[in-house]
Amino acid sequence: MEKVLVTSALLYINGLPHLGHMIGCLLPSDVYARFMRLTGHNVLYIVGTDEHGTTSEVGALKAGMDVQSYCDMFHQKHREVYQNFNLSFDYFGRTSSEQNKEITYRIFNDLDKNGFIEEREIKQIYSVDDNMFLADRYITGTCPYCGYEKARGDQCENCTKVLEPTDLINPKSAVSGSSNLEVRTSKHLFLNLPKIEPELRQWLKSKEAFWPDIAYSIALKWLKEGLKPRCITRDLKWGFPVPKQGFEDKVFYVWFDAPIGYIGITKQWADEKPNERDWKDWWFEDKDVYYVQFMGKDNVPYHSITFPATLLGTKEGFKQVDYLKGSSYLTYEGGKFSKSENRGVFATDATKEFEADYWRYFLMSNMPESSDSCFTFDLFASVVNKDLNGVLGNFVSRVLKMTASKLGPTVPTTGEQTSFEQELLSNLKTHIDLYFKYMTALEFRKALNELRAVWVEGNNYITVTEPWTVVKENPQRAGAILNTCINLIRVFALLTFPVMPHTSEKMLALFNLNINPNADLKDFDLQKEMAYFKGSEPFEIGEALFERISPERIAELKTKYGS
Ligand code: MF3
Ligand code: ZN
Repeated sequence: MEKVLVTSALLYINGLPHLGHMIGCLLPSDVYARFMRLTGHNVLYIVGTDEHGTTSEVGALKAGMDVQSYCDMFHQKHREVYQNFNLSFDYFGRTSSEQNKEITYRIFNDLDKNGFIEEREIKQIYSVDDNMFLADRYITGTCPYCGYEKARGDQCENCTKVLEPTDLINPKSAVSGSSNLEVRTSKHLFLNLPKIEPELRQWLKSKEAFWPDIAYSIALKWLKEGLKPRCITRDLKWGFPVPKQGFEDKVFYVWFDAPIGYIGITKQWADEKPNERDWKDWWFEDKDVYYVQFMGKDNVPYHSITFPATLLGTKEGFKQVDYLKGSSYLTYEGGKFSKSENRGVFATDATKEFEADYWRYFLMSNMPESSDSCFTFDLFASVVNKDLNGVLGNFVSRVLKMTASKLGPTVPTTGEQTSFEQELLSNLKTHIDLYFKYMTALEFRKALNELRAVWVEGNNYITVTEPWTVVKENPQRAGAILNTCINLIRVFALLTFPVMPHTSEKMLALFNLNINPNADLKDFDLQKEMAYFKGSEPFEIGEALFERISPERIAELKTKYGS
């Protein structure tokens, strides 16, 4: 059985994800992991929170909490959100875990031993009143170019100029507002990227033909601009202390230990059942693993350049990413999601309004794959009403109600195939083959188009065969038609499972069936699946699978979430 490792970018712990985060990495990784399991692969799907860095320290400070309890609390909140969206991760871990510390130290020591770590002196802004070094974006002041008074030390939001904190006029700490700042010099550790570059180039070149353009072009752009040594340590308290003499009072930079978190979290998972699981079975090149990463495009440089270089530099033969699924951004009603301006749907609210499957289907079929895409409530409602209610939900309820009222509460008997069934099967086969192809290739919008096309075939079939007319003259033929429709419902449920797991389970439950998430699409044979129900199996009509979204409800949602 082929091994497939799936990871989603580990979101920063402070602040909760919005729909853009969900579709940028979490949902597609889940859909892919479910699809690969369902087609019989041995999948390990890793998710977690990215907990180190200044943002956590500052967030905790503002919340009046110590950083550890702050992270514990937010970790739980993230977990709840991901569970509400029905993400099927094998482990939900943390970059601050003991296991991640162990792997981070191992990797750092390798790099140091192999001569890829160097010491350099740098100048940083120290806030005397806050008693800490400030990251560039935590220094604010007046922009020397446009006079904007709230420019940040890394960039002026007003004129977009990239700044150095020392460029600012009247610089202040964004943490406390204090202007008692000093420039201090201190020694830090750098990863010598130029030294690893030749090997990295070669590795990256081998991905050119496979990676989606959005990922490969970003990686290439970074290489072209030239790699410089990167500072991997920081003067903070929260983080992994640097295990090197003279640097014990510093911690690793968040972007150093965050991607190592994929390995650390695998070890957290493995440590729960040490006799059955070994993290090393997933993280070395000779273990025949296919490794797919999911992330937003802003994360691509770290996953295509710095993290691969880090792993190469260890010379341990660590598993590298095979396919990097980078995605673009989702906008909200034409603008940005903003917590402070109360604009946009945050993941905590989303599943209170509608069940996860509505979001999963809408977002996956409108995923910002090769370019940005837009969330609007009008579009959301129209997709829910047309595709989910009009096509899928309607087919299921219509078939079952008609069967029950005309022929009784059990599946009618199979009949001879006519040209109608032959055409149905041949159309279905075309769409299903493409669905498998696109899912395997991680082209989700195309895959979802095919899934919808599969459902549409059901409606087309019932329209042309008219069982409600046929039943008057030939109840047996009408029964055969409805038998085909009922077999279709089950096939729809199996195919739909990766995208809408709960809906799929509800459909199967009408026949008292369960999904086998590790096998049900393995060696899929349409002819065989369409002959699953032979006749006389009991069924329930159940409730409508989806609710329609009315114009009033749309207006209400727009007011509530801003537009
Ligand atoms: N925390 C980063 C973000 O939310 C992503 C880190 S991905 C990791 O943008 F794998 F490096 F952790
Ligand atoms: Zn400016």
